[in-house]
Amino acid sequence: MHKRVTVVGIGYVGLPLAVALSHHVEVWGLDIDQRRVDELKAGHDRTGEIEPDRLAAAPLNLTAQPAECPPSDIYIVTVPTPIDGDNRPDLTILLAATRTVAGMIDPARRPIIIYESTVYPGVTEEICGNEIVTITGLVRGRDFVLAYSPERINPGDREHTIDKIIKVVSAESPEVLDEVAALYGAITTGGVYRASSIKAAEAAKVIENAQRDINIAFMNEIAQILERMDLSVWDVLAAARTKWNFLPFQPGLVGGHCIGVDPYYLQHRAQELGYEPRVVIAGRAVNDGMAHWVADKLHSQRSEKAGRVLVLGLTFKENVPDLRNSKVADLVSRLAAHGHIVTVHDPLADPGEAFHEWGLTIDPDAFDARYDSVVLAVPHRAYLDGAEDLFASLLAPGGTFVDLKNAVEDRSMPRQADTWSM
Ligand SMILES: NC(=O)c1ccc[n+]([C@@H]2O[C@H](COP(=O)([O-])OP(=O)(O)OC[C@H]3O[C@@H](n4cnc5c(N)ncnc54)[C@H](O)[C@@H]3O)[C@@H](O)[C@H]2O)c1
Repeated sequence: MHKRVTVVGIGYVGLPLAVALSHHVEVWGLDIDQRRVDELKAGHDRTGEIEPDRLAAAPLNLTAQPAECPPSDIYIVTVPTPIDGDNRPDLTILLAATRTVAGMIDPARRPIIIYESTVYPGVTEEICGNEIVTITGLVRGRDFVLAYSPERINPGDREHTIDKIIKVVSAESPEVLDEVAALYGAITTGGVYRASSIKAAEAAKVIENAQRDINIAFMNEIAQILERMDLSVWDVLAAARTKWNFLPFQPGLVGGHCIGVDPYYLQHRAQELGYEPRVVIAGRAVNDGMAHWVADKLHSQRSEKAGRVLVLGLTFKENVPDLRNSKVADLVSRLAAHGHIVTVHDPLADPGEAFHEWGLTIDPDAFDARYDSVVLAVPHRAYLDGAEDLFASLLAPGGTFVDLKNAVEDRSMPRQADTWSM
C-alpha cells in the first residue's frame, strides 16, 4: 500500500474520498478555496456529505497551499468539469488542477495521478497527461503514471455511499492498475471493477449519466403527452411498472452538474470524431424545457391570473444544499415572467449562494404568509415531515398546490385545494 495520497479538490466528491482514505493512508486534501479549507478545519462540511463527528475522526491534512503538501505517491484529481455557455466541455479547472499536480510531482516516487472528474474519453491521457509532459518535461510511464476512476456517488444518497459501491478503476498498465485497485479496494466493500482501459472507464461514466438523462427525458415527454389526455403520469407509471422489464424512471426537473452536463461531454467527443449524436442529445432539450412547462401549466391552471406563488425548494435535488444548474430557478423566472409574485424558500440552500448564482432571495419568513399557489419543487425531508399542517397553512382558500415529484402522500395533501403533480 502506498504511503501518501493528495486529493486535489475537496468538494462533494473529494471530501468523502479523502475521509475514507484517511483511515488507511496518509491523506492531504488540497483545495483552492481557502474558505472551504477553513470551514473543514473547523469541522463543518457545507455540502452536508460528512457529519462533524466523522470529519473530526478523520486524520486529514487540509490546505489551500500546494507548497504545504509533501510529495505524494498518489494524486487524485476531483475538481469540477462544467460546460461553457455553448454547452461545450470547459476543461479550464481540470487543466489548472493538472498544472498544480504537475508542479508537485517527485519523479523519484513515480507517482500515480488518478483522475476522478467526469470527462470524455481521451481527456486523462491525451489532454491532462500531455499537459503534464509539456510543462514538466517528465516522461509519462517512467516519472509518473496515469489512472482514471470515475466517481459514482450521488449527493444526498445515504444508501449508495463511497464505502459500498462498486468502484470502476483503470490505469495505463496492469501493474499500476493493481495498485489503484488495492487503494480503492481498501475503502469499499462493493469491490472494484477493472475496466479494460482508461478510455473505457471514462466512457463508462459519461454513458451512465447520458443514459439516465435520456430515460428521464422519456418520462418527461410522456408526462406532457399524458397531460393532454387528462391522464396522470403517476397512475400510468404505476400500472406500467408491473411489467418485469419496464424501467422505473420518473419525470422531473434535471439539474445538477452531472446528468444534465455529461451528455454534452459525450456529444463533444462524438463530434470530434465526425459523428453527430441524435439520441444522446435529444433528451437535453426535453429536460431543459420542463421547468417552463410546469410554470406554464400552473399559470393556465390559475386562469392566467397573476398571483402570489410560494416555491418550496431551490436546490437541484432533495436533501442537498447544491444549487448548481438547479432548474427550479428557471421555474421561478418563468412564473415571474407571467406576472406572479414569487417567494422562494429552501431550508438547505445557502442564501448568499442563491443570490450569487441565481439572483434569488430565499425568504426565511416565507411561512408567515398565505399564497394562491404553493409549488413543492424539491421535496426536502424537512417539508415532508409534518406536511399536512404545513401545506394547508400556506395555501389561501381556492389555492393550487403543486406536488411536482408526487412526493406527498394523499392524506397530507391540503384539503379543498386544487392539487396536481407533474
Ligand atoms: N457531485 C457529484 O455528485 C458527482 C458525482 C460523480 C462525479 N462528479 C464529478 O466529480 C467532479 C467534482 O465534482 P464535485 O461535485 O465534487 O465538485 P465541487 O465543486 O463540489 O468540488 C470541487 C472542489 O475543487 C476545488 N477546486 C477547483 N479548482 C481547484 C484547483 N485548481 N486546485 C484545487 N482545488 C480546486 C473547488 O474549490 C471545490 O471545493 C466533477 O467532474 C463532477 O462531474 C460529481
